[in-house]
Amino acid sequence: MADILAETERLRLRGWREGDREEFVARVNTPAVMRWLGGVQDPSSHEAAFDRVDSYQRDYGHTFWIIERRSDQALLGFCGLKRVNSPGGEVLHGDFEIGWRLREDAWGQGFAKEAAIASLDLAFDRFAAPYVVALTVKGNETSQGLMKRLGMTRRQDLDFDDLRYPELNPCIVYRIEAGEWPAARAAALG
Ligand SMILES: CC(C)(COP(=O)(O)OP(=O)(O)OC[C@H]1O[C@@H](n2cnc3c(N)ncnc32)[C@H](O)[C@@H]1OP(=O)(O)O)[C@@H](O)C(=O)NCCC(=O)NCCS
Repeated sequence: MADILAETERLRLRGWREGDREEFVARVNTPAVMRWLGGVQDPSSHEAAFDRVDSYQRDYGHTFWIIERRSDQALLGFCGLKRVNSPGGEVLHGDFEIGWRLREDAWGQGFAKEAAIASLDLAFDRFAAPYVVALTVKGNETSQGLMKRLGMTRRQDLDFDDLRYPELNPCIVYRIEAGEWPAARAAALG
């Protein structure tokens, strides 16, 4: 279908469809998943976040896409590309940013890495990104683990304070250059 961005061995990255918002909230808006993302969100902030996801697709042609498991079409979460727009991180504004959020019962199976590899392929091959950043906070070691498994480099010089989340600051930055991706990809696939 037209809204399928990529297919991997076990997953499909696709655009958002009717009913996805409700399914996403039911599966992904949990204390464990949202621990480093400001906690469980109320319905109005979720709608605003989904509207932003739609606007990235409209404005840039890429966004945080739905991760669907091919074997049963289950919605596992999202992974994909936006552009940095964090208040406080102006020096990075407009940079390609990879992000991920999976339901808890999909952790620990390599699904996030599989979706992230497909997203970085799209970033460098289809969208011609010169480099891609990933943002997180110090305590989010699982997310940093994924950044490292993808071959991203910690860039302390780019860290900043996100004005929206003073209690979680600083926002820490990892980055990978287009020229680094082929070798990093091969290593990530192991
Ligand atoms: C960050 C997040 C996406 C990482 O997910 P993840 O499942 O740990 O990451 P991966 O897909 O790389 O999976 C790695 C794990 O799967 C295991 N695994 C099992 N089968 C595997 C396979 N076939 N291939 C690869 N890894 C496999 C690995 O051994 C590893 O396990 P470990 O964590 O016990 O060492 C997930 O924790 C999440 O959604 N967190 C909440 C949202 C969030 O914080 N988002 C980021 C905001 S910055």
